[in-house]
Amino acid sequence: MSRVEHLALRRREALCEPHHPKPFLKWAGGKRQLMPVLKEHLPPSFKGYYEPFVGAGAMLFDLQPRQAVINDLNRDLITCYKVIKKHPQDLIAYLKSHRNDKDYFYELRALDRHPEYDQMCEIMRAARMIYLNKTCFNGLFRVNRKGHFNAPFGNYRNPNIVNEEGLMAVHRYISRGRLQVFNTDFEEAVQTARRGDFVYFDPPYDPLSETASFTGYQSGGFGRQEQYRLMCVVTELTRRGCRVMLSNSSTEYIRSLYKDFKIVRVAAHRMINSVGSGRGKIDEFLITNYDPETGALLGQKRTRSSYTALAI
Ligand SMILES: C[S@@+](CC[C@H](N)C(=O)[O-])C[C@H]1O[C@@H](n2cnc3c(N)ncnc32)[C@H](O)[C@@H]1O
Repeated sequence: MSRVEHLALRRREALCEPHHPKPFLKWAGGKRQLMPVLKEHLPPSFKGYYEPFVGAGAMLFDLQPRQAVINDLNRDLITCYKVIKKHPQDLIAYLKSHRNDKDYFYELRALDRHPEYDQMCEIMRAARMIYLNKTCFNGLFRVNRKGHFNAPFGNYRNPNIVNEEGLMAVHRYISRGRLQVFNTDFEEAVQTARRGDFVYFDPPYDPLSETASFTGYQSGGFGRQEQYRLMCVVTELTRRGCRVMLSNSSTEYIRSLYKDFKIVRVAAHRMINSVGSGRGKIDEFLITNYDPETGALLGQKRTRSSYTALAI
């Protein structure tokens, strides 16, 4: 299906479907506000869709591909997708039992400090994740070095803890078609990608400065070694004939990693930043290994060895 046909179909479906699926969590680095620009750079057509750093899934829910592989290393986040797919009504029932109360919030937040947390039932974990996301300060999922959720109580008067219609719209989308959900490293998540597939990478960003990075997705962080490893994966996908789009910050390191590809600067609004002064417009890079007009692949002669000088 071509890009134009695909977007027209999405529009028709959105008109018939009163509750269009949308991200059900607020997520640092979420791409909702950038979607119009990202969509201008999609490949003209593609077969399967891969999103190895799915987060809240702004691109996924906008495109609603019928055949998709989504993945994220954050276990609680992926548990939410799985539970919404299989047990939406039980999830909604649990969410209804949660209260917007400071003491209650901290009680629930503290659960991941206990060794039994790993054994907790998936529906309760998903309900906790959504509840904390809706009631914490700035709607920010953030963990400390030990992997414990550490955003403070938000003190909002009326947070939308139970968005029943929104969750059911997400359920309808992710349970029709062929959507596979994984909780692993990005490299493993794209193992099955083949010629004609489209992969959108939205990794944690290369920091613009030592103090300006958001590292709270999980305890391990995502440093330059990981950025380099990601470039090697993109090079391999290019060799296989996959179309790849990648978002990242506009640093010189990122430019040098992807210099054989198409790199455009896009202006993004910073929605969540621990430093208030860091909010506002900021440039970032949108990188594609194809020409968005024709779909022709670029950089197919790249080899990993031409980049070893950039390895950290
Ligand atoms: C910038 S966010 C993605 C935001 C997403 N595009 C959205 O619209 O919400 C980056 C995501 O990468 C995930 N992540 C970090 N390291 C990872 C890894 N090695 N493999 C897979 N996912 C990873 C984080 O948990 C986080 O959700």
